[in-house]
Amino acid sequence: MTGDPTRPLHAPRAAAAGGPGLFITFEGGDGAGKTTQASLLEDWVRTRGRNVVRTREPGGTELGLRIREIVLHHRGHIDPRAEALLYAADRAHHIATSVRPAVARGDVVIQDRYLDSSVAYQGAGRVLDANDVRALSLWATDGLLPDLTVLLDLDPAAARRRLDAADKPFDRLEAEKEEFHARVREGFLSLAADEPGRFLVLDARAAPEELAARVRNAVAERLG
Ligand code: TYD
Repeated sequence: MTGDPTRPLHAPRAAAAGGPGLFITFEGGDGAGKTTQASLLEDWVRTRGRNVVRTREPGGTELGLRIREIVLHHRGHIDPRAEALLYAADRAHHIATSVRPAVARGDVVIQDRYLDSSVAYQGAGRVLDANDVRALSLWATDGLLPDLTVLLDLDPAAARRRLDAADKPFDRLEAEKEEFHARVREGFLSLAADEPGRFLVLDARAAPEELAARVRNAVAERLG
């Protein structure tokens, strides 16, 4: 690890992407509509003449796809700390090889899920210490925070109805019980309350086009 060895693990250096580009993440529970909103934003940013890199975690790189397969489809138990480390390994490689270079080139990176998902799912959901999980991700990414994080907030019962209607097999996390997803939701909301300048919290029950307009406003302010 580089940097000041006296810096406490619980307060790692963190900075918004900072480069000429923009790093935007979408967060929320499964079924909240992140992918739909990320796609609508991608189309709009392109109309503004900006280069877009659309990506996701886990699985934004070739290495990450192999990690994604493990975390989402491994049969049987994965120890929560091992799960947190797998997501962090995916993130470290993805940020270093794809996201940081894109932001440095001036691109707009639009990403499904980032470190807030780890704090919400592995921290609040699996009941690991939230500060540890955040510190692990910040170490993995050398302190990269998004310029904007859109949190699509939805209660777990409504999210479950959407997932049931989609009629796809559940992955390891989706298959967790409602209490788990309720903790994840609270975890996201508490992260947003801690960093109101970075987060835009939206009620995911609103119509997709209405949500997209709110997201566009927030991005327009940052695009300059
Ligand atoms: P996602 O790609 O959103 O699933 P889908 O393909 O169904 O849209 O996310 C995969 C799952 O991984 C999701 O349930 C949340 C979970 N997850 C974590 O638990 N921790 C993390 O750090 C990340 C990025 C995702």
